[in-house]
Amino acid sequence: MNNKTDSLNSSMSISSADEGLKKIAIITEIRTKIQEVKDLPTLPSIAFEVLKVAGKPNSSTNDLARVMEVDVALTGKILRTANSAYYGVPRKIDSLRMALVVMGMDEISNLVTTASILKAFPDDSGSDDWDPKYFWFHSAAVAELTVGLYDVLNLPKSTGAYVAGILHDVGQLMLHQYFNKYRVACTDYSKKEDVPSFRAELELLGVDHGHIGAWLIQRWNLPEEISIAVAQHHIRPADAPQYGLATVIDFADRLFHKMYNRAPEKVIEELREDKEWREWVGSRASTTATLVQELNGRIERATRLLDIMK
Ligand SMILES: [Fe+2]
Ligand SMILES: [Fe+2]
Repeated sequence: MNNKTDSLNSSMSISSADEGLKKIAIITEIRTKIQEVKDLPTLPSIAFEVLKVAGKPNSSTNDLARVMEVDVALTGKILRTANSAYYGVPRKIDSLRMALVVMGMDEISNLVTTASILKAFPDDSGSDDWDPKYFWFHSAAVAELTVGLYDVLNLPKSTGAYVAGILHDVGQLMLHQYFNKYRVACTDYSKKEDVPSFRAELELLGVDHGHIGAWLIQRWNLPEEISIAVAQHHIRPADAPQYGLATVIDFADRLFHKMYNRAPEKVIEELREDKEWREWVGSRASTTATLVQELNGRIERATRLLDIMK
């Protein structure tokens, strides 16, 4: 090795060591803030209780009603939603127990979580490149698409699917609220280099929004299934289960971007040609056309649900 190469190598290793140290400092800064700071958004305790009861296989509608009725404001909100045109129930639903019977425990539990999460993050005014309305629409649509994929692909039910779906990008919201200069730098990098946001985050910060969101979810003490799925929704270990929650969310997320504001015929055509998608779905869905129709309905639901809940 000649001197020139030597000095080149050592200057490269110093700069990559610098880069590494910089990333470690940023990761520590973000993690410390999310784990220790007091003014972070909190989830109302009723959301945990509801998730706990709804997740137990032998819970009854009465068990769930007992947990929920202590929160009068929340119960009122759920009844208002249940009686809205969104559900189109022909009879008036005038009690929580009736809502639970008509709509089912899963649906009510999803409504409670959505209401609690929206309350934890009161609207901010946004900025040129941050639109809170779009953020929540995307989040709710991915939650719907995640649950929709479990349905249409006939996958074994996952109780955390909706919550993990609605929280999958909460790390981006954390970056926006507490580390906006990092988020702006990542957005610029992603545009300039034409790479997805999580790649830009890994490159500049050393951690992606999936893991940042998972730190908040861990702090909230939500089930581990949810924090793992959110952490891994963009990058997973090679041995991650093929139909695990993180993978389903990842496909739901990509489907959203494919489907949003696009003609269904175009989407159907693209999915039929998408090798990765075809292999993943296998023979689990009846036809691509019915799948797209069902999932389009889910995106519709997210829009209407947010209109009622906000
Ligand atoms: Fe994401
Ligand atoms: Fe997303």
